[in-house]
Amino acid sequence: EDNEEVAEEYLFKVVLIGDSAVGKSNLLSRFARNEFDSNSKATIGVEFQTQAVEIDGKEVKAQIWDTAGQERFRAVTSAYYRGAVGALIVYDISRRTTFDSIKRWLEELSLHCDTTVARMLVGNKCDLENIREVSVEDGKSLAEAEGLFFMETSALDSTNVQTAFEIVIREIY
Ligand code: GTP
Ligand code: MG
Repeated sequence: EDNEEVAEEYLFKVVLIGDSAVGKSNLLSRFARNEFDSNSKATIGVEFQTQAVEIDGKEVKAQIWDTAGQERFRAVTSAYYRGAVGALIVYDISRRTTFDSIKRWLEELSLHCDTTVARMLVGNKCDLENIREVSVEDGKSLAEAEGLFFMETSALDSTNVQTAFEIVIREIY
C-alpha cells in the first residue's frame, strides 16, 4: 500500500503542443513505448500515456497528454491544459512556419496555465539536417527570450527524446 501512496503523490501532467505534423505523437510513442511510426495519422481529440520515470531514486509518474495540432481536430482547450505542470512546445526544424507559430502556442499556454508550469521548447526532426529551415541558434535565442528550456530532438532516431521529457519532469519534481 505504501508504494501506491508514493506513486499517487508523484503523478504529473505534461502537455504536448505545437502545429500539426511536427511530431508530437511520435515523441510520445518514442518516449512511452520506444516506437516510431513513419505513417502516423493526424491526432483527433486527445490521447494520453502514463510513463514512470526514476528521478533521484524515486519513481515519478508522468501523464503525457497529446492533442491535435489542427484546430478542427482539437479537444476542448481548457480541459486539455487543466492541471498541467509541464509543457513541451514542439516545432519541426525543417519547417519554418511551425517555428513561427511558437509565439501563438506560448500565448495559449499562458492563458490556461500559471507561470510556474515547466516549459521546454523542442525542435523536433533534427535528423533532417539536410533540409533544416530553423537554425539551432534561432531555437536557443527564442528559448532564452521566453525563459524556456530548449532541446533539439528526433523521434525517428531517438536523439534527446528521453532527455527532453526527463528535464521537464525533473523541473516539476
Ligand atoms: P498532429 O497530430 O496532426 O498534431 O501531428 P503530430 O505533431 O502528432 O505529428 P506526428 O507525430 O503524427 O508526425 C507527423 C509526421 O512526421 C509523421 O509522418 C512522422 O513519421 C514524422 N515524424 C515525427 N517525428 C519525426 C522525426 O523526428 N524525424 C522525422 N524525419 N520525421 C518525424
Ligand atoms: Mg498527433
